Amino acid sequence: MIAAFDVPVAARRAERSWRPATSRPSGSRSAAAGGNATAAASYEVTTGRGTNLPRMRAIVFDHFGGPEVLREAEVAEPLLGPDSVMVRIEAAGVNPVDWKIRQGYLSTRFEHIFPVVPGWDLAGVVEQVGPAVVGLAAGDRVVGYARMDVVEHGTYAERVAVPADALAPAPTSVDMATAAALPLAGLTAYQVVVGALAVAEGDVVLVHAGAGGVGHIAVQLARARGARVLATASRANHAFLEQLGAEPLDYGEELPEAVKLAAPDGVTAVADLVGGDALMVSPPLLRQGGRLASVTDASTVLTFGGRYVFVRRDPAQLAELSAMVDSGRLHVEMADVMDLSGAAEAHRRLESGHGRGKISLRVA
Ligand SMILES: NC(=O)c1ccc[n+]([C@@H]2O[C@H](COP(=O)([O-])OP(=O)(O)OC[C@H]3O[C@@H](n4cnc5c(N)ncnc54)[C@H](OP(=O)(O)O)[C@@H]3O)[C@@H](O)[C@H]2O)c1
Repeated sequence: MIAAFDVPVAARRAERSWRPATSRPSGSRSAAAGGNATAAASYEVTTGRGTNLPRMRAIVFDHFGGPEVLREAEVAEPLLGPDSVMVRIEAAGVNPVDWKIRQGYLSTRFEHIFPVVPGWDLAGVVEQVGPAVVGLAAGDRVVGYARMDVVEHGTYAERVAVPADALAPAPTSVDMATAAALPLAGLTAYQVVVGALAVAEGDVVLVHAGAGGVGHIAVQLARARGARVLATASRANHAFLEQLGAEPLDYGEELPEAVKLAAPDGVTAVADLVGGDALMVSPPLLRQGGRLASVTDASTVLTFGGRYVFVRRDPAQLAELSAMVDSGRLHVEMADVMDLSGAAEAHRRLESGHGRGKISLRVA
């Protein structure tokens, strides 16, 4: 059922979705940058940037830079592929990777096509599914981790087309802004705590940056699996860590001593969610056979014999996280919910590196 948007737009969307695909013309990239006009026109149509397509409100940036490069714009909606899902976004979660992408820090890892719509986290309603999609239908309330191989169509927008396996049912017990904060941070925490570290009863786990977006979920997942959890944060976040069931520790020079006092035999697992000194001091804090995982510094953690986690889509894990929220076993702490137009301010706050929990942008 297609509801909540006008028929003419729906008709145009359906019409454009399944016409035969034309392949991107060779040389189109340089053409798009100001070269051959015919090729440039083909490129525009092939990438869905033509002026006859439905438009939507989005935050975009046209070149790498500080938060000031973010601007509101009317852009063409993304195209719906045969096995993808068009989601009408209600809220977009904000993550550190968003400002790192905006700065160009991932430009050697992913292809970027400007203008870029940032954002990898969403909560919204399925509007249309490609013909090969099973298990999802228009009207479903979903959350999603929407990272694609090319950085172009993100979630700071009214719509995004994502692979079906990016999505899972949204939790029903929290608002959509809170739901939007769950996918990336939740999947990361899951893939560190349950995946890389295989935390279980009897473990003593040290979580570096336990009050952050990923950290506060990692703490709860480790506690839910029966582990004792030590977690670092500044004093202002110690009471919060205690509420989550962790034993708070200050980070900084005194940390190794504090860990040895709290766990004289060493910890059995370390989750590094901050990098730098936190990762460097970690190996000697581990008991014999202890496990180490990092989400920040691949080469260093691999040198230490640990695991590097780069969060990946997993609809079963995301559904489990969503169910945990609804059963009250997982709390998503919101630092703030801002309007879409506040994206630059949200990035500034995240770049400070000292938030508690998550920030989301309200889209609808
Ligand atoms: N590889 C991946 O797939 C992946 C996935 C997700 C995130 N990440 C990365 O992981 C990092 C954390 O992400 P996030 O979303 O949790 O970020 P975040 O919410 O911005 O983390 C902020 C938290 O970090 C704490 N913190 C700052 N400096 C610290 C230090 N020296 N020692 C311990 N804690 C410190 C702060 O605590 P106080 O406010 O109390 O100081 C704050 O609570 C980011 O670098 C992000 O890019 C990687």
